[in-house]
Amino acid sequence: MDQAHTKHIVLGITGGIAAYKAAELARLLIKQGFTVQVAMTEAATHFITPATMQALTGHPVLTNQWQDDKGMAHIQSSRVANAIVIAPATADFIAKLANGLADDLLSTLCLARNCPLLVAPAMNQQMWANAATQRNVQQLIADGVTLLGPVSGVQACGEEGMGRMLEAGQLAQDIAAAFQPKILTGRKVLITAGPTYEAIDAVRGITNRSSGKMGYAIAQAARELGAKVTLVSGPTALAHPHGAQVVDVTSAAEMFEAVKQRVSDADIFIAVAAVADYRVAQASEQKIKKCDAKLTLELIPNPDILAYVAALPDAPFCVGFAAESENLREYAEQKRRTKKLPLLAANLAQHAIGADDNELILFDDTGEHRLPRTDKLTLARALLLHAAMLYRKGKSK
Ligand code: C5P
Repeated sequence: MDQAHTKHIVLGITGGIAAYKAAELARLLIKQGFTVQVAMTEAATHFITPATMQALTGHPVLTNQWQDDKGMAHIQSSRVANAIVIAPATADFIAKLANGLADDLLSTLCLARNCPLLVAPAMNQQMWANAATQRNVQQLIADGVTLLGPVSGVQACGEEGMGRMLEAGQLAQDIAAAFQPKILTGRKVLITAGPTYEAIDAVRGITNRSSGKMGYAIAQAARELGAKVTLVSGPTALAHPHGAQVVDVTSAAEMFEAVKQRVSDADIFIAVAAVADYRVAQASEQKIKKCDAKLTLELIPNPDILAYVAALPDAPFCVGFAAESENLREYAEQKRRTKKLPLLAANLAQHAIGADDNELILFDDTGEHRLPRTDKLTLARALLLHAAMLYRKGKSK
């Protein structure tokens, strides 16, 4: 992730059983390009050893405010941090933060910071529900601290309820999201995603292997940049992206209608859907019965949604996708010219469809830009930053 490459996070671990998740969190943050300095409370060292965290991060772990010769570890470490993340944050540590207490290295570091503070609470459901904890949490929010979770679920003590720490994967995503510049605030982004399903009869149809993952990742990345997102989605197995308005459709015709109804409001249109090129001319309402004779289906072309939008007199900034199985560059450039798109993202279908990772080549008026192989959300963030930059440039002309 370009944005994160030079970003430095102080990961504060306090004494709760969820401390074991901090090891995976550190690993995922480093994988995303962050550098991580761990600081642990004394209680946390009873749950996970500093040696584990040191081995994962490559940096000695800060545990004791007196270990540094000059006694200034809290100032130095907080000055180089781009953010401090407390995961897990116990009820006790949240109470300290809410009251500005500084009686150990980690709480001192938080008080001395001049960077954002993100806190992932983890505690028993009764402790979370306690009026004192709720008061402290409200105080943190009022102080501008970002709360990550908690969520409801089974707890280490065997009880069930609110207070479970978010899983490491979700925390890593939320932390990276907090670093995204809010450059699309106030902008409306319309996205198509997933496959379409063209009915043959009551039970059969023509579709493709698109999972919708890339389009959904783009919806999330656009939200992170501050945009208002509408996602027109063909049938997928994915959970709706948080904060986006989702319009579920089945066929290309339905997708076209949904886009036509909403496009006049959009500043940016990103066509990620793998729209079926053809539909059955006359879909049968009943299931077609098997017989010995040949069955011929007549297929007629579907409307090209992206080409329609790009040709509108007051078209939004349009981004297209091209999934090819060969001659990627040639076909992609040709597609960009024919559909008159300022930006097109091309990938090899055999690398992209259904996979969690992908690589893209972006084509625009200045040439091509490679986005190397990584997970689809990281790619989506890089693509969106590029698109937002071109969009803003176009607006300022
Ligand atoms: O021409 P081709 O189908 O390869 O173009 C792919 C791009 O066009 C993608 O951005 C896709 O979402 C969009 N498209 C569309 N409507 C279609 C076919 C493709 O919006 N009927």
